[in-house]
Amino acid sequence: MSGRLVLVLLLCLYLTVGSVQGQGSSQDAFIIQYLERRLSQMEDRLNQCEQKTVSVTQKTYDLSSEIRGYLSTLSVLRSEVRNQVDSVSVRVERVERELEYLENKIPPQTDIEIEGALLEQQIQAAELDQLQKKAKIIVANDCRTALSQIKSLKIVKKAGDTYGSWFKDPTEGSAKVYLLSGIRNNTVLEYVSLHSFTERTTTPPVKVVQLPSDWQGTGQVVYNGFLYYHKADTPNQILKVDLLNGTVVDSTLLPGAGRLPVYSLNPNTYLDLAVDELGLWVIHADPEYGGNLVITKLDKASLAVEYNWDTQCRSRDAEGAFLICGTLYVVYNTRYGGRSTIQCLYDIHDTIHSEESPVMFFPKRYTSHSSIHYHPVEKQLYAWDDGYQTIYKVETRRNDQVTAE
Ligand SMILES: *[C@@H]1O[C@H](CO)[C@@H](O)[C@H](O)[C@H]1NC(C)=O
Ligand SMILES: *[C@@H]1O[C@H](CO)[C@@H](O)[C@H](O)[C@H]1NC(C)=O
Repeated sequence: MSGRLVLVLLLCLYLTVGSVQGQGSSQDAFIIQYLERRLSQMEDRLNQCEQKTVSVTQKTYDLSSEIRGYLSTLSVLRSEVRNQVDSVSVRVERVERELEYLENKIPPQTDIEIEGALLEQQIQAAELDQLQKKAKIIVANDCRTALSQIKSLKIVKKAGDTYGSWFKDPTEGSAKVYLLSGIRNNTVLEYVSLHSFTERTTTPPVKVVQLPSDWQGTGQVVYNGFLYYHKADTPNQILKVDLLNGTVVDSTLLPGAGRLPVYSLNPNTYLDLAVDELGLWVIHADPEYGGNLVITKLDKASLAVEYNWDTQCRSRDAEGAFLICGTLYVVYNTRYGGRSTIQCLYDIHDTIHSEESPVMFFPKRYTSHSSIHYHPVEKQLYAWDDGYQTIYKVETRRNDQVTAE
């Protein structure tokens, strides 16, 4: 703008100079001097102007870089604040969940004014109720069998994965054999008999049952044509499936279970189901109880929990367990495979004690069991040993201490 103005002025001057050339030379010289003075003044102002522009540009630049600095500090601060807000909200959420949990634990319509004596009475009544339930389980099933030794081993077949489970339906009169290969799948193979299972050419052919959802681990059982199993991707859901048509007939969530693998040597099994003379059981490990094994008696029909027993048997170095007449026998081994031994037992009747029982050895052989299932009628164990399907015959004795009680 100012540059263009100067140009116009110079042009005017030139024209003026041209028009006055004809007049007297002294007058000319004066005018030229005057014009030169003015010109140099204008040049000075122009220089000043340019310098000012440069300094303003510099200042603008300085200012904008300062602002940029502030902005980046601000965004750092903002993300810090956001992180803090996030962590606070996570904590609030956790407290809310804990509150909700506690609220759920408090029975509805709790009267804060309850007399101490009344409360005690109620607790006693609840305990009595539990004891009666426990007594009913024990009395309703007069079972006097204790394991005395693992007698022999028969290797039946090699089929499927390294890990898996196989067993018979222990219902009286059923000969069906089931094979569940792997630690997660939805396909169950059903054979009409053990003979058919061991035959090279299966006649009649194997029946393939597709379950509505995958199982998890190797802790499944079949009882009376129903498969009971831990549903994959759930911490503790047990499904009861009718194997005739693969439909779920019942399901339950086992409170507190499924937070730890049951046996440290079989890290994929979180719920191990078992059948004995008394009925259906779930063996699991409780982190709040030092990782020790807990056994839960379930109602076969409704899957309702009948009673829980905390055992002193540890999960560390265990590879499996089974129940005979309400006594849990826990099998230990080493991480690299070795000779399996029963080193801990727990009797719900409190008549057989772990300390008084000798360590029981499995037949001399290197083993690595991914599942062990007891058949109460045949008195045999169906085991999956590193891809081999094996059967152990067990010897039992009458446990007369029960009668003495
Ligand atoms: C599931 O089991 C079937 C039959 O045993 C087998 O063919 C299939 O490969 C298995 N699927 C997976 C994902 O392991
Ligand atoms: C599955 O079979 C059982 C027993 O035969 C029957 O009661 C049930 O209705 C069947 N379910 C379906 C969905 O077919």
